[in-house]
Amino acid sequence: MAQTNSFFVTTPIFYVNDVPHIGHAYTQVAADVLARWHRQRGDRTWFLTGTDEHGEKILRTATANSMSPKEWADRLVATAWHPLLSTINITNDDFIRTTDARHEENVQKFLQQLHDENYIYAGEYEAWYCVGCEEFKPESEIVKGEGAFEGEKVCAIHSKPLELLQEKNYFFKLSAFGQKLLDLYAENPDFIQPESARNEVIAFVQQGLDDLSISRTSFDWGIPIPWDNSHVTYVWFDALLNYITAAGYGQDDAAFASRWPATHIVGKDILRFHAVIWPAMLMAAGIEVPKQVFGHGWLLVGGEKMSKSKLTGIAPQDITETFGSDAFRYYFMRAISFGHDGSFSWEDLAARYQAELANGFGNLASRTLAMNAKYFGGVVPEPSEYSEADLEIQKLLLAATEDADHQIQKLQIHEALASVWQIVDALNGYITEQEPWVLAKSEETKPRLATVLYTVSEALRALAILLAPVIPEASQKLWCALGLEPALGEVSNQRISEAGVWGITQPGTAQQALEPLFPRIETEG
Ligand code: MSP
Repeated sequence: MAQTNSFFVTTPIFYVNDVPHIGHAYTQVAADVLARWHRQRGDRTWFLTGTDEHGEKILRTATANSMSPKEWADRLVATAWHPLLSTINITNDDFIRTTDARHEENVQKFLQQLHDENYIYAGEYEAWYCVGCEEFKPESEIVKGEGAFEGEKVCAIHSKPLELLQEKNYFFKLSAFGQKLLDLYAENPDFIQPESARNEVIAFVQQGLDDLSISRTSFDWGIPIPWDNSHVTYVWFDALLNYITAAGYGQDDAAFASRWPATHIVGKDILRFHAVIWPAMLMAAGIEVPKQVFGHGWLLVGGEKMSKSKLTGIAPQDITETFGSDAFRYYFMRAISFGHDGSFSWEDLAARYQAELANGFGNLASRTLAMNAKYFGGVVPEPSEYSEADLEIQKLLLAATEDADHQIQKLQIHEALASVWQIVDALNGYITEQEPWVLAKSEETKPRLATVLYTVSEALRALAILLAPVIPEASQKLWCALGLEPALGEVSNQRISEAGVWGITQPGTAQQALEPLFPRIETEG
């Protein structure tokens, strides 16, 4: 059984045939927010991402660019996939490449074990293959080609022609695991989330599973099958194993035991690989199945799944260069219900940036620090007696923290953020009602002014902690301006549970001026 204080989260590993777009970055940010939140909960957290480098798709791209596939992969990893991590501020603990020796060796070990235990056999195969998906397609996912592809069978996802493959292949006895998988889904209702994804997978498995072709002979860019070097391993069988080879499987049993099982965050297009094939592979090897598989929705641009191949791809840096990485992270976590599709538009991004980040949160922080500088010389005042309105704020901090933590446990990131944002809205309302600028006019109301400004400063402390997983840069800047770093250390080291505890900011703390956290952006036209 997984211990409750351990959290291992993964993203899919990304194909290196092309550079990242915001759909890839979306998966990464979601996993990163979860990892950061769990670290701040004090959970033993491990966050893995990486790249998927074998297979026909990568081979063809490399060849088209007159490079060897390894040279191509090295170049893409160095120039695009590693830099993406800093572009969007990702705090992964490891980065696995499927060309790493630690991966290749242990994939072979895993295959050999399944072969020795008769879960793998040799057979003939003839089926329609989509190189874009790196997957054989059943009739139900094949459509008739149109335009240039008239008369051809094309992939429903990529709208590109399929290729008929006839090969001698090795097969994994996936069909033997249908009932075991259905039992797993029944006994562990949270195994696949959200509910719609779970239902779809159950219906798919109930139809009966075919065995899975797991080797190829028509090209050699892959991990050789250990007992027959004329075959290379099917790219998905190779790729799924990254989650355990990176965690220590085959090399470091203690590390593996302390990390596994993982929570997998994946796009809904690759849910079946993770919720059907992957647990069956692990069951065959006698390894514990993942803790959970969460299928998130697609980012849509102009109503279609955003993708490079359909030329709707947007590079993450196109957004971060203008809005910054915090805004990128906030926008995708806030505007899209995690688990559902969501439309991206520049207008929506710009509007939320201005209304929520700049006016709602940034302005609240700057105003508070400016008032405290003006009325108390930038030193946190001693609160006097608390009124009903002040106590309401204290109660809200506690309730919102608990609720947000609960939502994160359910992977409902957008709900968690909405809970935290109640604090932003409540504080803006509180300042409007309390009118500190009026209280500042007379000596008599100075004690009340002190209580009001203490209340807002202390609530900003809580906000910095709770928002650090989503907008780490702004939260750290605010934390420093609140004067909290000398006594408490960086904001990312603060516990979520402390956010709702009242009175941690000490009166007498010296605050500093704060530059606008989300400066106004001049948009063209
Ligand atoms: N290499 C495989 C995964 C192997 S995991 C053992 C793969 N790679 S991918 O680069 O094509 O996609 C990686 C992730 O990006 C997937 O979760 C996919 O759903 C996600 N996205 C790609 N386009 C997307 C959108 N337009 N919107 C949201 N996520 C999208 O599949």
